Amino acid sequence: MAAQIQASSSPSPHPPKSIKSISRSPALTSIPPAYIFPSSPPHPAADQSAPVGQIPTIDFSPLLSSSPDRRSETVADLRAACRDWGFFVVTNHGVPDGLIAAMIEAGRKFFEMAEEEKEEYRGGEKGVLEPIRCGTSFNSSVEKVFCWKDFLKAFVHPVFHSPSKPPGFSQVLEEYSKRTREVARELLRGISESIGLEPDHIAKKLDLEQGMFQLLAANFYPPCPQPELAMGMAPHSDHCLLTLLTQNGIDGLQVQHHGNWVDVRNLSPNSFLVNVGDQLEILSNGKYKSVLHRAMVNREATRISIAMAHGPSLDSEVAPSPELLGEDEGTTQLPAYKGMKYRDYLLLQQSKQLDGKSGLDVVRA
Ligand code: OGA
Ligand code: NI
Repeated sequence: MAAQIQASSSPSPHPPKSIKSISRSPALTSIPPAYIFPSSPPHPAADQSAPVGQIPTIDFSPLLSSSPDRRSETVADLRAACRDWGFFVVTNHGVPDGLIAAMIEAGRKFFEMAEEEKEEYRGGEKGVLEPIRCGTSFNSSVEKVFCWKDFLKAFVHPVFHSPSKPPGFSQVLEEYSKRTREVARELLRGISESIGLEPDHIAKKLDLEQGMFQLLAANFYPPCPQPELAMGMAPHSDHCLLTLLTQNGIDGLQVQHHGNWVDVRNLSPNSFLVNVGDQLEILSNGKYKSVLHRAMVNREATRISIAMAHGPSLDSEVAPSPELLGEDEGTTQLPAYKGMKYRDYLLLQQSKQLDGKSGLDVVRA
């Protein structure tokens, strides 16, 4: 308790163990200065007047269909969605609603555990390559301003790692990982086709069969007394190929589209929000771009999101696909990015503070 009161009344450059405890300190009416984002956007920040349109929806089921026509229509939809938005909602993916709900509930129970219970998962010696890691904000040891968020990250594939508590957590996570991985694999087949490559091109090139890297990122955003000053998650793009996100019915995510922040509204609890990550931008030589997104917080409700990041095997070197380079309809396509091992990219992007798409600057050719 003493720690809570201290954290809320005297801001310090050292973050508390969790934003959950700050959020719940009884006398909290304003946020500690260390949580005030310097260029805080007005909230909601989406520019309502701009004709930004609707995030596309992709019906997943035709990807499994034996009818080539149905499949090719979906591949065309994927092409438009990846090219024009980098974000899309996936429906009819076959992952049971009950499993999604159970995963969110398991996440909630993890965050609700006493802070001492999570101690063993905080700050291991491998840093961002620690297979199970929880904490607050994004990278609190290097940040000057903290995000209003607690997180849990676990590497769930090719080797499955999970916290052993709360009871039942790892069973739900294992099943959820398997099912979302299958959806991601199938989407990547469709996406591979959509950029003019063989369906299995990405999987073969990046060793997805055996080695696909899959990461759970569970996010906990408790109520915030001054949501207009705080940020749940700073603007960033994801380091992976493809992220599948679900949430507990509370909105807060915004995606950048044509320079505007667009609210993701009313994401159905049985749908996944999917986005293009940096590795897909590199592999596609910029045909598809990873997209900035951020999470806002609110005064009333705790928001929980479960993001599953799917990437190449950690030892894969990711570079623009040679098939997309050279002569194409009279123009010469030069590689826009240098190759880099995914493990090195992950280390690079995760070890500093979250900073837009700055990870990609390092590999730009
Ligand atoms: C992420 C992410 C957004 C959210 O975990 O990479 O962008 O809505 N999360 O929690
Ligand atoms: Ni993200």
